[in-house]
Amino acid sequence: MSEQRDYAHGHHASVLASHAARTASNSCAYFLDRLQPGMRILDIGCGPGSISLDLARIVGSAGEVVGIDFSSDAISHARDALAAADDAAELNVTFATGDVYSLGENRELIGNGFDVVHAHQVLQHVPDPVEALRTMGALCSPQGIIAVRDADYSAMTWFPASEELEDWRTTYIRTAREAGGDPDAGRKLKSWALGAGLDIVGSMSSTWTYSTEKATSWWGSSQAERVRKSQFADKARALGLSNEDIEEIAQGWAQWGQAREAWFCMMHGELLATPQR
Ligand SMILES: C[S@@+](CC[C@H](N)C(=O)[O-])C[C@H]1O[C@@H](n2cnc3c(N)ncnc32)[C@H](O)[C@@H]1O
Repeated sequence: MSEQRDYAHGHHASVLASHAARTASNSCAYFLDRLQPGMRILDIGCGPGSISLDLARIVGSAGEVVGIDFSSDAISHARDALAAADDAAELNVTFATGDVYSLGENRELIGNGFDVVHAHQVLQHVPDPVEALRTMGALCSPQGIIAVRDADYSAMTWFPASEELEDWRTTYIRTAREAGGDPDAGRKLKSWALGAGLDIVGSMSSTWTYSTEKATSWWGSSQAERVRKSQFADKARALGLSNEDIEEIAQGWAQWGQAREAWFCMMHGELLATPQR
């Protein structure tokens, strides 16, 4: 059941490489204090699996992490990352292809339910986030927790001002909406969880800030590569942008990343909820 839905970023190597930089500490800080050795975690939309592997280190070999993604490319990268990890033998983690909407039917997977049902930067890409959260609730054990974190593109801000970065944002927002997602998911997580009938435990926010020379240079060049080589370019052309327009956006990112005063802030909404008991 892989690749059956549209996914705004696509799975080009440039996209997977930037997702693989994610860790439990930079992406899951809002629920790390709830984790204990021995817990079972389901990581939905796990991508290249770097967060799943980190979560597996926390719950230890007495626990279990299952990473699910509808992209077989992403799952294959996740399995490679597991095979390459120095501590692979100590990690109880498996990766499988699957679509969030059909996971609720998989009794074998669910067992007695997961202690944590997690999705990082996934709900912004699904056509019906309320239904996805309802399914996440059904996959949770009665005492378990649902943890989701999503970006909010309209709330991202940067310096110095750049016409090309504004064009990037406008174009990305259009392509993400056309793919059936909601690029401003961060601000809506609480409302979606209420719609799914979940009990809200907390509704927070946190940011990724790129400010050091190393971080802005990496973020600028990785975004430039994504603009040129990932699905962004095809989708932008379908919206009527020319190759020159796309190259200008890519160059804008590369130039921004080299500016001494460059600063970028990505806002995320975060939500912790329990299934209604
Ligand atoms: C932005 S990536 C996030 C990957 C990972 N969670 C991380 O933060 O590094 C979103 C992932 O969700 C997956 N995805 C999107 N819709 C999905 C669905 N309906 N079911 C399962 N996975 C999905 C995509 O294939 C992609 O790998």
